[in-house]
Amino acid sequence: MTELKGSIDFSKIDKILNDCGYEKTNLITILQKVQEIYKFLPEDAIIYIGDKIEGLSPATVLGVATFYAQFSLEPKGKYEIKVCDGTACHVRGSLPVLEAIKAKLPMENGKMTTKDGLFSVETVSCLGACGLAPVVVINEKVYPQMTPEAIEVIIDTLIREEAN
Ligand code: FES
Repeated sequence: MTELKGSIDFSKIDKILNDCGYEKTNLITILQKVQEIYKFLPEDAIIYIGDKIEGLSPATVLGVATFYAQFSLEPKGKYEIKVCDGTACHVRGSLPVLEAIKAKLPMENGKMTTKDGLFSVETVSCLGACGLAPVVVINEKVYPQMTPEAIEVIIDTLIREEAN
């Protein structure tokens, strides 16, 4: 049965739960598959999964989702900005780049996505491109040897393109 609450299509979650045998040992896989659909883990989905799997509770599912950095509890922006803060990038100035992004894209306290849903920002560990440090990735596109000035120009360009 398709059951809709807000923007969640619970039939899709039911299918994932079914494919994973409603097993709590498959919780990580289940969360990964749900995140693939929504690009984050909606609260309603977390509660639903916690209620449906025997031996789990919504609080446990939320605890697992919060523990693993791969899971996001917030919707991502249309442009997902990832600033590498691995050792090589850190040493070569990733933090000033991150500060420049944050100054350019003010976000509410504790949030990683702008109010208009256009940008989200996160730091990630080594992306395996240390020779290009500091590295920023926006929607899978790699921007090497980033500087605060360069990232401002890139963000301005994206904002301009969106306005057109
Ligand atoms: S530390 Fe940033 S790519 Fe390796």
